[in-house]
Amino acid sequence: MANQHFGNIGDIWKHLPITELLHVIHPDHYWESHAGSALYPLSPNDARNFGVFHFMQHASEHPILRDSIYTQCLNDIALDSGKSPVYPGSAYLAFAALADNPASQYCFCDIDGNSIISITDTAEQLLSDPKNVQTHIGDGIQTIMGKLNQTDVVELSGVFLLIDPFHLTAKNDTGHTSLDLFSIAANCGCMTVLWYCAQTQDERNNVNMHLDQLATGIDQQLWKSEITLRSISEPQFHAPGVGMCGLLCANLPAYVYPTVDKLGQMLEQIYTNAVLPDGLSGVIDYTSSPVLESTMR
Ligand SMILES: C[S@@+](CC[C@H](N)C(=O)[O-])C[C@H]1O[C@@H](n2cnc3c(N)ncnc32)[C@H](O)[C@@H]1O
Repeated sequence: MANQHFGNIGDIWKHLPITELLHVIHPDHYWESHAGSALYPLSPNDARNFGVFHFMQHASEHPILRDSIYTQCLNDIALDSGKSPVYPGSAYLAFAALADNPASQYCFCDIDGNSIISITDTAEQLLSDPKNVQTHIGDGIQTIMGKLNQTDVVELSGVFLLIDPFHLTAKNDTGHTSLDLFSIAANCGCMTVLWYCAQTQDERNNVNMHLDQLATGIDQQLWKSEITLRSISEPQFHAPGVGMCGLLCANLPAYVYPTVDKLGQMLEQIYTNAVLPDGLSGVIDYTSSPVLESTMR
């Protein structure tokens, strides 16, 4: 499996809101350009202790977190209950969130063949019709750009696309990045979500610059929703997976934003007394805002 970062705090502020968004919106199509594995063997390390293990220990303190689809999935497969615990990737969570719509259509891309095998195996187990799952081993940026081109505009409005790269600015063979894919998908009318992260304050400034630039080329109102470790600007800060991460969203129905905000605020609360492995404060700040309204065209 190519993704070794599963279960860190960055995954919490990706999988918790994405799963709830899918459950509430119920898109006809769910596409991922950088899909990863459906399941990951779960064992503790510093980043996961601060991420998924802290979350599982405290989620029951708030009904909204306790009753979320994400927590239900963790209870089903990540708690040690005799079986080997596993962590659910975004593909597993999408199957769970859309379970009551057997007609949902999926498309998952990854350059890693083993990740794709894990998705097809999981689809066989969870879905009544695994033929609804299309997979592509190869570059997801180009594959999804091709699908955007071939899909009619009405159908595109029912597509929810998650773009979840390791590096925002990594170029594929044709020179395109995940930022380019976001821009094209958003302008096509797809419900588009880009997950982004930074380890340090400098990286955070750089990511924000890229997001602001991106917004100027997009006709739609963008919205971002992020968590930041309050100690990120301390000189001795060492990120427990990520120091900041967020979701940049286009074309989502406005009624979902309060749901995401509520989850972010509850997450903030269960980290109020958290401590990082090196002893610094593990307090998290949640923020959400439209992206650069003043520079929108
Ligand atoms: C952050 S992980 C994905 C995690 C997954 N979406 C989840 O939430 O569980 C990024 C994935 O992108 C894949 N990847 C890297 N470059 C890619 C590309 N150009 N096209 C498709 N997949 C790519 C990696 O193999 C890795 O599995």
